[in-house]
Amino acid sequence: MAKVLVATEKPFAKEAVAGIKKIVEGAGFELALLEKYTDKADLLKAVADVEGLIVRSDKITADVIEAAKKLKVVVRAGAGYDNLDLAACSAKGVVAMNTPGQNSNAVAELVFGFLLQLTRNGFDGTAGTELKGKKIGLHAFGHIGKIVARIANGFGMEVYAFSPSLARNPALGKEHGVIAVKNPEELYDKCEIISLGMPANADTKESINYDLMNRLPEHGIIINTARKEVMNEADLVRIMTEKPKFRYATDIAASNQAELVEKFGKRAFSSVKKMGAQTSEANINAGLASANQVVNLIKKDDRTYQVNK
Ligand code: 3PG
Repeated sequence: MAKVLVATEKPFAKEAVAGIKKIVEGAGFELALLEKYTDKADLLKAVADVEGLIVRSDKITADVIEAAKKLKVVVRAGAGYDNLDLAACSAKGVVAMNTPGQNSNAVAELVFGFLLQLTRNGFDGTAGTELKGKKIGLHAFGHIGKIVARIANGFGMEVYAFSPSLARNPALGKEHGVIAVKNPEELYDKCEIISLGMPANADTKESINYDLMNRLPEHGIIINTARKEVMNEADLVRIMTEKPKFRYATDIAASNQAELVEKFGKRAFSSVKKMGAQTSEANINAGLASANQVVNLIKKDDRTYQVNK
């Protein structure tokens, strides 16, 4: 009987695990669970006899793939798959997948949680500012960006967006109530708030640098629900020093988060743990999609959403 492992350092909601179990067992497979593990050795041991693996931001490095001798498919229940060693997967014939769009709503809602946290001064009793009429720039325009655009329009914000595909097809912007701009520079020149949604890869690494951030006004805000790797963290310190009203909220603590908080206090905000996709709904959507994808790959070689082609 094929065995499927759910390995989540940050567990899914209970309802999501129950749904995954139903799908996996319903397909005639066995489900194993490894939650809240802190020792990689536990992961290496748990993958030894599994054909399917479901993870979240868990790092699936070459040694994990090497230890998983029977592995056919690994599904990252979520969007960003920078935690999967794709080359190692391909080298061993393991299909790697993500579940695009399944947790986007949760992340998009959190963008506004962060934004209100910053613009209302951490709800500390002092006068803040409103979102209505402000210019927000969406840096990336995928599943999350489109939902952020809808919510931002609901707040009465002016919404701009940049992504390479949108720049090629600006008409798509209109459909979603956003003004498409030609390049990131134009986005940062025009807006006062930026929401980051791009994946972490060689092209985006440290791409949010001094030149871009300096185009934002004195009271500029960056909301990062993407990855910390896309920020040039030294440049962030520089800009927050030079612009004493500049604010930054991130779902993944910066490598220099302690320094940011020490120097800039409430102007630098971070989740304790990545919370963007941490809702029951997102866990259920992404978890169930993962389970179905694992089953369909093993049973029918259905490779929809494969990311290591
Ligand atoms: C994603 O890429 O889907 C999000 O960053 C969610 O990550 P998580 O599953 O670790 O919360």
